[in-house]
Amino acid sequence: MTANREQFGSRLGFILAAAGSAVGIGNLVGFPVNAAKNGGAAFLLLYALFVFLICLPVMMAELAAGRNSRKNPLGAYQHFAPDNKLWHIGGWLSLVTPYMIAVFYAVITLWVLGYLVAILNGELEALTTTEYFGNFINSPSIFIYLALIAVMVGVILHFGVKEGIERGAKIMMPSLFIMLLGLVVFVLTRDNAMAGVQYYLIPDVSKIDAKVINGAMGQAFFSLSLGMGILITYGSYVDRQASIANSAKMVALADTGVAFTAGLLVLPAIFSFNPNVNTAELSDSSVSLIFTFLPKIFLAMQASVGYWGASIVAAIFFLLVFFAALTSLVSIIEVPVSGVMDQKGVTRHQALLMVGSTMVVVALACAVSFGMVDFFTSFIHYGGASKSFFDLVIDVFYDTILPLNGFLICMLVVYRWKKAQLNKELEQGDPEYKGSLAERYINFSLGTFIPVILLFVFINTVLNKFFSMSLI
Ligand code: TRP
Repeated sequence: MTANREQFGSRLGFILAAAGSAVGIGNLVGFPVNAAKNGGAAFLLLYALFVFLICLPVMMAELAAGRNSRKNPLGAYQHFAPDNKLWHIGGWLSLVTPYMIAVFYAVITLWVLGYLVAILNGELEALTTTEYFGNFINSPSIFIYLALIAVMVGVILHFGVKEGIERGAKIMMPSLFIMLLGLVVFVLTRDNAMAGVQYYLIPDVSKIDAKVINGAMGQAFFSLSLGMGILITYGSYVDRQASIANSAKMVALADTGVAFTAGLLVLPAIFSFNPNVNTAELSDSSVSLIFTFLPKIFLAMQASVGYWGASIVAAIFFLLVFFAALTSLVSIIEVPVSGVMDQKGVTRHQALLMVGSTMVVVALACAVSFGMVDFFTSFIHYGGASKSFFDLVIDVFYDTILPLNGFLICMLVVYRWKKAQLNKELEQGDPEYKGSLAERYINFSLGTFIPVILLFVFINTVLNKFFSMSLI
């Protein structure tokens, strides 16, 4: 079946699709605020180091494993370790993890869509009230938004890799870049904006401690879509003439670039429209920032550009976040879809129906776990707190299993598939890679300190989340 596996149509298309996957809500909101709170430029530098020295090799390993096996993640694990069922656990994890992450991410995406519609309806002012968010996420309209998102993602995935995923990314990603730059220019030309830039960029090394390092590492790893099976899947659609190393570098650059640029938008906006901001107030959670804090910032703009001017800026921002979230959602749902297609030998259409319909059910369970249905709201108790179904999914899959998956993929590639094979795959379409410094670095790091770091992050998170303990 290798011969007729779907493929990306162009190198740029693949890079945009992978960057679309990587650029998400975390880049636009989580990164800027984390950077500002945790040492500014010092955090940025740390983050960039992690992206290029630790995450990029894992990214290349995932892409190479996908391209070589021409399989979904479970198929890839089976391909490289046919005789050892223990490895297949890693494969299963790389299908279940994206499935569950997609479910909670769909819920956040539907909120973003709901806010976008509300702003276009002239409700920006209402969004800034304290009750709005709680009321909205418990209102029946969330079902309509979930249905809309299911249809949008379904249509994109229905058209397949080239006509769906690639075409969607080719439309949404350039629009995202343009909207982002437009908003940055607008915000930087406001009074007092430079205070935000300073606050964002002036390095403060004293803030860097073990916790911040751990946070930067986690953020970099999650941001690049690692451990989610996405890059194995996308790698399986890349042709052998393309250089994986160069494409991966472009994706990492785009992801880091968007995160950095978003900081030039969000922080100056905060300072310029709310000069007395107490930065301790900035929440650690992207969710409360987007849905409760930022609408206030946008509303404050009405003093200079009027209510509708402020609403337009807010609408562009929410559209930007929506595109970022939608391209991530598409990439992550493609993983189980391709898994079902390969493993069950069904058509894309059938796989999409199977994955999509069950996913909507689990997403509903997440969506109603904020008070609408008690059973899902107080779903379980651990780490000293009562947790909703939504919290559980985030804690287990997003925070905990991802680094474990990263560790397993390093082990699979280096100790099962072997470095020589990895090198051969990475040299395909890239003659300069052979014998390069990058090759030597990757060979060494993937078999040594990268898996150790990932394992450490995994253990630390388990202790932290479930036992309220910490290694650092
Ligand atoms: N960078 C994404 C974010 O910031 C995280 C992410 C990467 C993601 N790949 C994803 C989220 C796929 C959902 C689906 O939000």
